[in-house]
Amino acid sequence: MNDNGAIGRFDSGTGYGRRASTYVAGLTEVGPGTPMGELMRRYWHPVGLSTHASATPREVRVLGEDLVLFRDGRGRAGLVVARCAHRGTTLYYGKVEERGIRCCYHGWLFDVEGNCLEQPCEPDGGHARERARQPWYPVREQYGLIFAYMGPPERKPVLPRYDCLETLDEGEFIDADDSSIGSGGGAIAPCNWLQHFENVLDTYHVPILHGNFSGTQFVEIMNQMPKVTWDYTPLGVKAFSVRTTADGRRMQRTTEVALPTLRVVPNPYVGGYGRVESIGWTVPIDDTHYRIYTAGRVREKGVFLPRAAGAPTNRRRWHDMTQEERRDFPGDWEAQIGQGPITFHSDEHLVTSDRGIAMLRHVLRREVDAVAQGKDPTGTSFDEQQQPIVFEAGNFLVDG
Ligand code: FES
Ligand SMILES: [Fe+2]
Repeated sequence: MNDNGAIGRFDSGTGYGRRASTYVAGLTEVGPGTPMGELMRRYWHPVGLSTHASATPREVRVLGEDLVLFRDGRGRAGLVVARCAHRGTTLYYGKVEERGIRCCYHGWLFDVEGNCLEQPCEPDGGHARERARQPWYPVREQYGLIFAYMGPPERKPVLPRYDCLETLDEGEFIDADDSSIGSGGGAIAPCNWLQHFENVLDTYHVPILHGNFSGTQFVEIMNQMPKVTWDYTPLGVKAFSVRTTADGRRMQRTTEVALPTLRVVPNPYVGGYGRVESIGWTVPIDDTHYRIYTAGRVREKGVFLPRAAGAPTNRRRWHDMTQEERRDFPGDWEAQIGQGPITFHSDEHLVTSDRGIAMLRHVLRREVDAVAQGKDPTGTSFDEQQQPIVFEAGNFLVDG
């Protein structure tokens, strides 16, 4: 007899003997030469705030590569591979000069394009110093962020501009942030970037995780179970969700993800109605870490998610919470880090409310395949006159 009292019948669904769990490497891993890494390397990514490029070298890890960011004495930002082309120490310990960065070990001087300008231990400063090129990446500054292009030089697209960061309303200005707004916790999230990117289209977690399980984490109206539809857009996928306000109007909220890693999420605290206020880039640091850079229209420096008047403010900041409080009142950070360093896709059971996630994976697979076939991926333009990209995202109030 077994525990159920039945003879000859056995427990089913136990954890014993289950297959080894696996993840889809082609969607998650971003190192050089990986399929997703090659797709990522066809776009510009933010790698720091403009203020991070300074006379003090700064370590930057992105797409699994260790780099050093600096700004030379002429004001040019530079992004070079950390490992010195001479004998391999890190340029993080270098000194920034007028013309570039000088390695601490034997004093080789490199400019922002990796040209070796001096080899002080060699006769005449090095006869063959042009052979020692320090690997570097092109950078551009926009919206208070430093963007880098780490892909094949001949396929370098123009750096896109976005209408929601170009057209400002009265009293607004553009601000940038690297504290991973939207991740729900610390600046560097110890899990794969796709876990966060998928969360943006996981619309049904909002009323559960943020509206019910841990009390009101955003505002009252966001606690409602919305009606959700998802659709493809030219650059990715959008989620359209409808809720009803206390006075019988409809709140229509559109959230988008756009290639390569853009989260275009209207303020969940609904500080006001209208078009989306900010863009976040879910930048993979490596396969098991990401951080979000944000640029947005603000009215007060650093305030990207103003709250609606009268909204509860009892939610404690993640940094101020104890582990016990995080256990009792989990948020985005806990849910996404809780999926593990790279979630096991083999163990998932995707259902109808996960449609947005399936659609995003479809888009990413399609683009990975396009690059593998030698094509340029969606959203890369080589036209310097390209107009700013317009998103539909926003919180809108509609009568009836
Ligand atoms: S290791 Fe950098 S100059 Fe020698
Ligand atoms: Fe969330």
